[in-house]
Amino acid sequence: MCGIVAYTGCKEAYPILIKGLKRLEYRGYDSAGVSLAQNGTLSTYKQKGSVDQLDEFCMSKDRSGKTGIGHTRWATHGEPSTTNAHPHLSSDGRISIIHNGIIENYVYLREELTKRGYQFQSETDTEVLAHLIEDIYKNEGCSLEEAVRIALKNVVGAYALAILSADEPDQLILAKKGSPLLIGIGNNEYFIGSDGSPIVEYTRKVVYLEDGDVAVVSPQKGLTIKNIDDETTKRPYLQKLELNLEQLEKGGFEHFMLKEIFEQPRAIKDSMRGRLNVKKDIVELGGIREYEQKMLNARRIIIVACGTSWHAGTVGEYLFESIVRIPVEVEYASEFRYRNPLIYEDDIVIAISQSGETADTIAAVELAKSKGATVIGICNVVSSTLARITHAGSYTHAGPEIGVASTKAFTAQVTVLTLMALSLGRKKGTIPLSEYHKIISHLELIPQQVEETLKLNDDIKAIAKFFVEKRNAIYLGRGINFPVALEGALKLKEISYIHAEGYPSAEMKHGPIALIDEEMPVVVLATEQDTYEKTVSNIDEVISRKGRIISIVTKGDSVVKNKSTYCIEIPETLEILTPLLSCVPLQLLAYHVAVLRGCNVDKPRNLAKSVSVE
Ligand code: M6R
Repeated sequence: MCGIVAYTGCKEAYPILIKGLKRLEYRGYDSAGVSLAQNGTLSTYKQKGSVDQLDEFCMSKDRSGKTGIGHTRWATHGEPSTTNAHPHLSSDGRISIIHNGIIENYVYLREELTKRGYQFQSETDTEVLAHLIEDIYKNEGCSLEEAVRIALKNVVGAYALAILSADEPDQLILAKKGSPLLIGIGNNEYFIGSDGSPIVEYTRKVVYLEDGDVAVVSPQKGLTIKNIDDETTKRPYLQKLELNLEQLEKGGFEHFMLKEIFEQPRAIKDSMRGRLNVKKDIVELGGIREYEQKMLNARRIIIVACGTSWHAGTVGEYLFESIVRIPVEVEYASEFRYRNPLIYEDDIVIAISQSGETADTIAAVELAKSKGATVIGICNVVSSTLARITHAGSYTHAGPEIGVASTKAFTAQVTVLTLMALSLGRKKGTIPLSEYHKIISHLELIPQQVEETLKLNDDIKAIAKFFVEKRNAIYLGRGINFPVALEGALKLKEISYIHAEGYPSAEMKHGPIALIDEEMPVVVLATEQDTYEKTVSNIDEVISRKGRIISIVTKGDSVVKNKSTYCIEIPETLEILTPLLSCVPLQLLAYHVAVLRGCNVDKPRNLAKSVSVE
């Protein structure tokens, strides 16, 4: 949510900022802006809309300057507009600030600053910081860095900040609390980013700022990090940035989303690599080894997550309850954190997040930790906040996911959850050995079967035409495929703007059936064996109300196929593993419908990739 990039060094800053903003645009694309330090003044250029629009606007401007900051915005306070775009300036125009997060007490601060004569240009929460820092800087006679630290003591909320000043044009001040910020260290130059994507082509040496850190970088003076409340200087902890440049490109695909859907065989394989060895009969997740005994002794497991990760967590509930026989509760992180939940010291909380930065998930983890629970993370972004604050965890190794609609992260999360359940179930003895062996040998085949499923791309593209003019859709699934129905509906609604709902198939009779008519496409996941006849009855109920069935079935199925307007056949696997295959046609369907409707697939309206504000 909002992307931050900044540079100081011997190169021209503008090209680095613009390139960085393009990479960060998936975090927000309502507006973009840059500030450059130029001969004792700051030049600030902002535009509503995309980074390309900003770049075009800047073509006729002075883009010189070796220190600068850039921002791409996902609007929280104030509509998307050029005025509300970052950077925001102090009233004398000599301090420029970009921000990712939310200043919760901005109304109070704004009132106080207004009383002191400050005038506000924008409706944003961020602008208060520019004036507050200016006020302290001018009245306290302190350095800008001290002014920032004093200001932040008065701020409630979350932030990653980069601050540029005309008074010290070769320096950047950075601060972090709640939102991510990292510093790439080059040769007498510094590259700052909300994530590694704007940094990776220049350096792999990075420092991840911690909550409460205020850093100053300057080619002359180097890097110093202090805490907001503490004068003492902290030793920077250098880490290697684990990211490949090719992973950030579209690689010949029209959209990141399509590329990422097609990367799933590789992503699943990578998530299993070194963890599943069928020949040696090994399922082992090194990252949780130390906590495995605790997990085996747990009275219950609570899974917290949001969006697609919550759907993966719900698949996890089925996996853990059937394989490990431990009760599982799956919670929306946003609900969990605010309802004073019962959390016990012997609870295991599994937090799932692609980005590892989702504000509600992070807050849920902090809450669980404060009550003494053990928290295990499942996340994709290496060294993200979630990875750093959990007791232990497993990375999904899906590679960077740029498309706002999550695809490969989902299948990678389900893969890790499957491995976790199998490893624990085996140790706990809650799964018969023969069953365990059957599952692991089928699991090994999944990447190849996803590859096979992807060959249906053209058929699914043809089916997508049926949805183009529709206004609603219903997705039905049972058992472990119910969360897949939810995920399929989420994919369709978030990128094509067609209203879609997922339901457990049998729930249809309890209300949603009233919606069925000849206009209603009903996507049915009909791969499960145990309740196959029940699903067939549900399909008959839809057909007798003139609804149109689009079914996902196991290859060779004829009963459901004959009842369907369109039918997609996926390879045969064990029921417990079907989500890894059945979600793929639903991702492709949503993708093609959105493309046919002319929607911006990778940057759907109103959304951002990483929801780092509440
Ligand atoms: O990074 P996270 O997995 O924590 O993100 C959670 C949700 O914001 C995310 O899955 C969102 O629902 C996606 N847009 C779904 O495609």
